[in-house]
Amino acid sequence: MKHELCAAALKRRLTTRVMGRNLEVHRVLDSTQTRALHLARQSAPEGTLVLAEEQTQGRGRLGRRWHAPPGSSLLMSLVLRPELAPRQALRTSMIVSLAAIEAVARVCGVVALVKWPNDILVEGRKLGGLLSVVSARGERLEYVVVGLGLNVNLDAERLPPLMSPATSLRAETGKYVSRTELLLALLKGIEARYDRMAAGWQPHEEWRRHLATLGQPVRVGTRREEVIEGVAESVDQDGALWVRTEGGDLRRVLAGDVTLRGHPLG
Ligand code: BTN
Repeated sequence: MKHELCAAALKRRLTTRVMGRNLEVHRVLDSTQTRALHLARQSAPEGTLVLAEEQTQGRGRLGRRWHAPPGSSLLMSLVLRPELAPRQALRTSMIVSLAAIEAVARVCGVVALVKWPNDILVEGRKLGGLLSVVSARGERLEYVVVGLGLNVNLDAERLPPLMSPATSLRAETGKYVSRTELLLALLKGIEARYDRMAAGWQPHEEWRRHLATLGQPVRVGTRREEVIEGVAESVDQDGALWVRTEGGDLRRVLAGDVTLRGHPLG
């Protein structure tokens, strides 16, 4: 395969202290998420990163599959062990999505935004998505595994139909994009924000500035199978969305699947 990811080359060029220092690169894996969860349970150190060129059982949110042609995408899962309470776990995905947005801007000049809570969009088209799995022991997080799938060198016609409307960095720029450069920028951005968070910074203000969802009419399915409709007004420090309903109530939604009313965003 041309331009494949190489563990030795990545390690030589890493500028991070923790993120990606313990690294696995697989040609084929069922899912980087499944592998990273296994490693996290075996006490893998913080910053452990699992990458794959191809996944046979890629996992998406809400039980969906994640499809990506071999060698086309950034498919990764990162083990984090933050000093956070379980209700604050979404802060880790805020950090990863912000770092992803920064990396695609720096490396390719593409402007992306977040669709609450876990999608990365370019002008409404899905460029990628995050999937977090959390393990808690009482009031402390034991680990969070943040999975990220980013469409990099997919041709427009190979974009997964289920993800529609979707896009890739190649489709946006018309150029081949180096996944290595993208990953190095991404890990640097994650670590910078993660260190700041450990020193007391909260990522939600920066995240709020990069949300495509605010001010939009939304329809949110909650975990309790309830559907809330209204206008997305704000997000709070733990990543919950505040929705103003037609009746004027302000409802707090912690996680769900947002569609622009009547227009599923994918
Ligand atoms: C979504 O549904 O939008 C989130 C998709 C997350 C996919 C990534 S690809 C790398 C990692 N491994 C998986 O099996 N899933 C995540």
